Amino acid sequence: MEWQAPENLDEINRQLLVLEQDLLAIFRRSQEPGCLWTSPAFRFVCDWVDEDPYRGLLMSRIKNTHAMTPRHGINVMLVARGWMSWGHRLGEKRDKHALAALLHDIGHWRHPSLMHNFGFFQVDEYRQMQEHTSLPDEAVSVEGSPLADADIRLWIEQHHEQPDGRGYPAGEREPHVLSQVLRIVDCYEGLTTERRFRRRYTPYQALQLMARWAGTKFNAGLFKNFERFVGVYPLGSFVNLKDGRMAAVLPGADRERCDLLVLTGPEGDPLEEGVCESMSTALVGEEAPPWRQVSLPKAWCTLRPDLLALPRG
Ligand SMILES: [Fe+2]
Ligand SMILES: [Fe+2]
Repeated sequence: MEWQAPENLDEINRQLLVLEQDLLAIFRRSQEPGCLWTSPAFRFVCDWVDEDPYRGLLMSRIKNTHAMTPRHGINVMLVARGWMSWGHRLGEKRDKHALAALLHDIGHWRHPSLMHNFGFFQVDEYRQMQEHTSLPDEAVSVEGSPLADADIRLWIEQHHEQPDGRGYPAGEREPHVLSQVLRIVDCYEGLTTERRFRRRYTPYQALQLMARWAGTKFNAGLFKNFERFVGVYPLGSFVNLKDGRMAAVLPGADRERCDLLVLTGPEGDPLEEGVCESMSTALVGEEAPPWRQVSLPKAWCTLRPDLLALPRG
């Protein structure tokens, strides 16, 4: 099967930028969070992910190193929305949940100085950081603010609670299931993002690490479901095949499967033309380490992780 050009992502990139600007203005308090309810960009992104949940997963691969940027909220929203529209029926709560994902760390505006801390936290800063789950009264009391909604407020306030009771702020052992969704996605997004004090984990490594925490840091059954959504080698991963070739994992032509886009020959020599093969884990030796790069010919210039969303069928 021949490789097809990726779908045109200009419009979604534009809309994500608008959303990023809105979120930044909200963090800086020059805009009310309520503006998101009616924001065409918010609507566009939700609908775009609903059309194909895996788009959310792929688009969340664009990262920003600093944890407190709007991009983190956007990525949590993209993945959570994708996951929820992939296999869950949230009904009228869907948009509220997407908004909670977008704003889940908004409590950081209580201690803005922490937003500029690029290193490790001191003990008192760590305590202040933990306060970000409780929303400031003035944000909750504004008429029309999404933060005044009881569901949104609960999901945000519990997004660091965990089943072993060692979460914060209350040590709640049975947090709301949709708070746990935020917790899992937040954790995955954090681990797959580079930080000043550590390298990023690949999606595969992040899932392996998180699997050890299932049942303690988050609901084990829910995490299993998340793993199914993300896949063993999540879309956009690069893998070394057992015969020495290197390939990228892409959405398959039929929705249930993934395809492999083979990039190199067995000796690591880049291919002039892409070849798509059906994904089978039996073919895969291991995930390609992040430092393994191939020098790709011109035809592959557009091959950025965010552009890997091939049209299906
Ligand atoms: Fe948080
Ligand atoms: Fe977060």
